[in-house]
Amino acid sequence: MNSHEKSGKLAGRVGLITGGAQGIGRAIAERFQSEGAYVVLMDRDGATASETVRQLTEHRPSAPTIFLQADLSDPDQVHRAIDDLKNRYGRIDVLVNNAGIELDKPIGQISACEWDRILNVNLRGAFLLVQHALSLFPESGGTIVNISSIHATHAFPHSIPYACSKAGLLALTRNLALELAPRRIRVNAICPGYIDTRLWEEYLRHTPDPDAVASQTTALHPVGRRGLPADVAEAALFLASDGASFITGTNLVIDGGLTIRAHA
Ligand SMILES: NC(=O)c1ccc[n+]([C@@H]2O[C@H](COP(=O)([O-])OP(=O)(O)OC[C@H]3O[C@@H](n4cnc5c(N)ncnc54)[C@H](O)[C@@H]3O)[C@@H](O)[C@H]2O)c1
Repeated sequence: MNSHEKSGKLAGRVGLITGGAQGIGRAIAERFQSEGAYVVLMDRDGATASETVRQLTEHRPSAPTIFLQADLSDPDQVHRAIDDLKNRYGRIDVLVNNAGIELDKPIGQISACEWDRILNVNLRGAFLLVQHALSLFPESGGTIVNISSIHATHAFPHSIPYACSKAGLLALTRNLALELAPRRIRVNAICPGYIDTRLWEEYLRHTPDPDAVASQTTALHPVGRRGLPADVAEAALFLASDGASFITGTNLVIDGGLTIRAHA
C-alpha cells in the first residue's frame, strides 16, 4: 500500500466515473486513483475502456480498476451495471456523471431521434444512474459531480439539444443537492469550456479550416490557452473531496476565462 492509498484525498473511497474510457473521464479516473480511490469506469466503448483499465491497474495492481460496460441511454444496461457493482464493491462514495455526446446541427436539420439521443445520454442517463445508485451510497454520505458545459449558460451556434441537455444537468444538480442533503450526499456540477479531447478534435475536423478555428479559439481565452482534461480532473477532485464539504448545488466554471469577457 503506498502513502496515497492511506492518506490521499479519496483514500479508500469507491469512485464511479461514466465515460471514463477516454478524455475528461479518463483524466478524472487517473486523478482519483492517484488520491487513493478505488476506480470504477462505466462506458459503452469496451475496446477503449479495456486499454484504460489495463493502464490504471498496472499503475496500482493492489486495487484493480473495474469496468462496467453500459450504454447510458438504455435503462436496463444502467441497472445491470449498478447491480454488478453492488456485487463487487457494495458501495459508491463518489459518482461522476461525465459521459456525454454532442450534435452540431442547425435547428432545421435535427430529427426527433437525434434530440432524444442527446437528451437520453447526457441528461436522462445521469438521472437514471443516480436513481439506481442511491442505495449504494453509505449512511455517512458521498458526493456526485455532474460534468455539464459552458453551453448550459451561453449560446453557441448549432448546439440546441446539447445545450438543453447540459442546462438540464445544472437543474438536476441543484434539485438533487436539495433532495439528497439530508442523506449527506453533496451534488455539484462543473462547466468546462474548450477542453482538448476527442470531442473537440471531432468538432474541429468538421470545420472548413481546423487550424484557423483552433488558433481563433485559443485567442478567445484570457489565460492564453485552451483547457486540458487534467484541468477538469483537478476541479472534480476538489468537489469530490472533503475540502468541499460545505459546497453543494453549485456550478464550477473551468474555461480559462472564456465566458467572462463582455465583448472581444
Ligand atoms: N471536450 C470539451 O471541450 C468539453 C467541454 C465541455 C463539456 N464537456 C463534457 O465533458 C464530458 C466528457 O467529454 P470528452 O471531451 O472527454 O468526450 P469524449 O468523447 O472524449 O469521451 C466521452 C466518453 O463517454 C463515453 N460515452 C458516450 N456516450 C455514452 C453512452 N451512451 N453510454 C456510456 N458511455 C458513453 C464515450 O465512449 C467516451 O469514452 C462530456 O459530457 C462533454 O459534454 C466536454
